[in-house]
Amino acid sequence: MTPSQATATHPPDTAPNATATHPVFAAQVLEGLSAQPKRIPSTWFYDHRGSELFEQITTLDEYYLTRSETALLRGLHAEFSSLPAGAAVIEFGSGSSRKTPLLLDALRTPASYTAIDISGDFLRQSVRGLQLRYPRLDVHALEADFSAPLQWPPALAAAVQRQPRIGFFPGSTIGNFTPEQAVRFLHGAAVFLGPGAQLLVGVDGTQNKARLLPAYDDARGVTAAFNRNLLTRINRELGADFNPQAFRHVARFDAVHSRVEMHLMSPAPQTVHLLGQRFQFDAAETLHTENSYKYPAMMFQRLARSAGWTPQKHWLAADADVALHLLQC
Ligand SMILES: C[S@@+](CC[C@H](N)C(=O)[O-])C[C@H]1O[C@@H](n2cnc3c(N)ncnc32)[C@H](O)[C@@H]1O
Repeated sequence: MTPSQATATHPPDTAPNATATHPVFAAQVLEGLSAQPKRIPSTWFYDHRGSELFEQITTLDEYYLTRSETALLRGLHAEFSSLPAGAAVIEFGSGSSRKTPLLLDALRTPASYTAIDISGDFLRQSVRGLQLRYPRLDVHALEADFSAPLQWPPALAAAVQRQPRIGFFPGSTIGNFTPEQAVRFLHGAAVFLGPGAQLLVGVDGTQNKARLLPAYDDARGVTAAFNRNLLTRINRELGADFNPQAFRHVARFDAVHSRVEMHLMSPAPQTVHLLGQRFQFDAAETLHTENSYKYPAMMFQRLARSAGWTPQKHWLAADADVALHLLQC
């Protein structure tokens, strides 16, 4: 593979203000396309369409993660009812908030619910649905990137700090970080939630390739559409000229790093223009779009400890190596 070319050229003139309107997105995409191998953080999957496609993925037969974690949450009603009453529940990467009622319904008189997600429109839509279901609960949407330090909106900070705080991070989203990023996230979550908080984290520990690969490369091609939607988003928001159909969806299991990788592979050489630069893809070159690290329980506990959390309990799903870990700081 030759290194990518990043030379001045004549790009399409469709998003002249993209670096001003989407500065972080533009900077990360430019940096990732200039890297070798090429990569883009998976966070950028989640525009409104990406969030919709992810919801479709969660309903696929092959995608055991949602099914197993949901069944596990359902069976933990009695365990959750012994968590502190009057809690502030704070969910990281809340998406559709579809799992949230399984926690809220088990807790004794939760006081508030704050959903944090980077996919703003989808977040607000989900939170509106949740507020209708729980009219007396104090419900908030916080559109933010949780890979950077989070700030409480001033109007919320004082009330939440008086309530016992329970963080909720389901969906094995923690696996999308590298282990170093996951430690940074967990440390940041401890600072954000404050001393004495608890955190319930969903973690996939599956190592079986025959089960993993179909979950990330389903027969109906929904995960492929989710992966390619990233290119459609870059075209729309940053004015690039990717042809999404000229890239093939690829899922691989890297047993050494215990992670599933998703890539977009260019079967033939092609050139893409973006923000005044030209990026060359060689035949079979890939753009790495997602990691999903798989942590067996003891490995995750070690990670949590190194970020300052004390593992309290964990529960395993009956039908998969999917776990929920309860941590305390
Ligand atoms: C794998 S989905 C999980 C959704 C849901 N929690 C579940 O269990 O099905 C990841 C969620 O995290 C959000 N997300 C991804 N990266 C994020 C980031 N850096 N900051 C905030 N939210 C992020 C996505 O928008 C998406 O809703």
